[in-house]
Amino acid sequence: MATKEQIQNARDTLKIPNHLAIILDGNGRWAERKHLPRKLGHAQGCETLEQTIRDCNELGIKYLTVYGFSTENWKRSEEEVGALMALFHKYIIKLKKVAMDEGCRVISIGDRSRFSPSLIDALNEIEELTKDLTEMTLVLALNYGGRDEIARATRRMYKAVAAGELDPDTITEQTVSAYLDTAGIPDPDLLVRTSGEIRLSNFLIWQLAYTEIYVTDVLWPDFNMDELIKAVEAFSKRDRRFGGRKK
Ligand code: IPE
Ligand code: IPE
Ligand code: MG
Repeated sequence: MATKEQIQNARDTLKIPNHLAIILDGNGRWAERKHLPRKLGHAQGCETLEQTIRDCNELGIKYLTVYGFSTENWKRSEEEVGALMALFHKYIIKLKKVAMDEGCRVISIGDRSRFSPSLIDALNEIEELTKDLTEMTLVLALNYGGRDEIARATRRMYKAVAAGELDPDTITEQTVSAYLDTAGIPDPDLLVRTSGEIRLSNFLIWQLAYTEIYVTDVLWPDFNMDELIKAVEAFSKRDRRFGGRKK
């Protein structure tokens, strides 16, 4: 495990991303390798997330966005989807303490309309409870899909045009960003995906346009401060040109 000195050294010497996005993948494989039901992998994944929030705050990362459930994950068995929904509910209630301890504002992105009223209430409650906290921001992507987000934003833009509130000739990239679920949140600087898969799986497809990508074979339940520091070390070495020339 990372020592206090290693953490301090990382803070002092590395370029810390302002916004870290994580595709937390590999919960199912982690459980299967241990001959456990997949839902225990998801439960362990929630524990890892709790610690990762604390670790990000300790490193000085200001925004953490995590992909918890995609618009495509409904294709899984009824049993797994049911277990995930129950876990999210339980986890969000538990997250209140972590958020208060860490001074962390919690918000959710994605389409909530398929969630149970009790899960929606829990999300509203944690957002309201933490809305004035400024140490960091945790964005939970739940029933989130990048394409679905853009489709929903397009519908809202179209309605604003129809209502005479938006002039189509003035629509810029900034306008589109402002209609997305992530309005007001800076784009991620670093994307980490665990479990070795090298794809976006419909995560933040607009926002990741110039994000640095880091993939690790570590399965999400095994992710920890050591792995986080490795990802930030790799990020520190990247030359971000944004289409321009090296200075
Ligand atoms: C990621 O773990 C969490 C969710 C998608 C909800 P997976 O459940 O995708 O784990 P693997 O990829 O099957 O190992
Ligand atoms: C992406 O992981 C979604 C989440 C981590 C919530 P998946 O495991 O669903 O992605 P694919 O199916 O491997 O692309
Ligand atoms: Mg997966």
